[in-house]
Amino acid sequence: MVPAQLDEFREYVREVAESIKQFSMIVDREDRFAKESVSKVFESGLAGVIIPEKYGGLGLTTKHYVIFIEELTKVCPSTAVTFAVTSGLSAGFLINFASEDIKREYLPKVSSGEYIGAFALTEPCCGSDAGNLRTRAEETDGGFKLNGQKVFITNASVANFVITMASTDPEKGKKGITAFLVDTDSKGFLVLKNEYKLGWRGSVTSTIVFDDVFVPKDKVIGKRGEGFKYALASLDAGRIGIAAMGMGTIARALEISTEYVKENGLTDNENFTYRLADLAWMYEVSKEYTFKAAEKKDKGENFTKEASIAKLVASEYAMKSVNIMMDILGPDGVVWGEAERLFRDTKVLEIGEGTSEIQRMVISRTLL
Ligand code: CAA
Repeated sequence: MVPAQLDEFREYVREVAESIKQFSMIVDREDRFAKESVSKVFESGLAGVIIPEKYGGLGLTTKHYVIFIEELTKVCPSTAVTFAVTSGLSAGFLINFASEDIKREYLPKVSSGEYIGAFALTEPCCGSDAGNLRTRAEETDGGFKLNGQKVFITNASVANFVITMASTDPEKGKKGITAFLVDTDSKGFLVLKNEYKLGWRGSVTSTIVFDDVFVPKDKVIGKRGEGFKYALASLDAGRIGIAAMGMGTIARALEISTEYVKENGLTDNENFTYRLADLAWMYEVSKEYTFKAAEKKDKGENFTKEASIAKLVASEYAMKSVNIMMDILGPDGVVWGEAERLFRDTKVLEIGEGTSEIQRMVISRTLL
């Protein structure tokens, strides 16, 4: 039984996270999907953290989700992002916008660990300018045929389904984009390559191709032409997940640094102890903004600005925090080990699910 009280919930996640610790350096070294860790998290029941109980999930809040992702990040950022995309971005998309039939078919399988999800928006032509995407969905007998290419898609090569944005009405631009649920065993769904990456090497990031992939009508998600808005709304929620990863990164950088300062007799040296203080306040500030966004989301209020602020603050502080950690550890940080892995795993937080500049754009638009 997963406890609902927040502190007890955190303890439960910590125990699960502890059980995957043994794999986090191995998957990084071997540059392969963290399948053992992902299985263990699925066994814990936590994958369905925000999925309603009627679809087999835990029906808990976004704050629980933040704690879940934060604690996984402290141990294995690769596993954390696999679940941020499956349990957060993809499941959230279905909860908010899919038909009852799709929810009944897919959400219980995410909750139970049978299904991994992915979210495909980015294309070679268009990353930040996602509304200009070129993947086409032509109407055909009983459904649509998809053709196009998506890049940097987390989980794509291990996923069972990919929520895919494609243009059904190119002449309408952004208003012609529709969301589709594509089963990855569909004919014509191809994984072109998995990226060899700086960090998150235990998670997969792929280029995928849609070569005349047939998607039946009942796998259209929501209304035709509304896909881009669904994607942006889902990214708002997704950004809370990345902010949670930022929190986990800062928390772990603080733990590693504190241990180092204590073990090396540096507790009276302000050059070191003041840096620990910086890590501590960066964590608290990131937590404050991330929980604020989570709370607004749970109250059903608009949280676009808060999610972007949380993502911007937590990801930029996370990058600063791993730099500080490396300064504290000196040569002990750059040799192969957890510190250098965490350092490499962090840069992408400022890039994925909208770069820092995109967050600034989103925030500024809410002010004007
Ligand atoms: N929620 C709901 N609807 C929204 C919205 C939101 N947060 N933001 C805008 N909209 C609506 C607008 O109201 C508008 O609707 P109307 O036409 O009816 O008025 C429509 O969506 C289009 O909005 P904009 O004209 O403002 O859109 P834009 O083209 O100017 O783009 C943007 C805005 C913020 C730059 C957006 O393109 C963006 O967020 N880009 C970054 C994309 C991104 O984050 N990509 C990451 C992909 S996922 C990933 O990293 C990898 C992975 O595997 C997970």
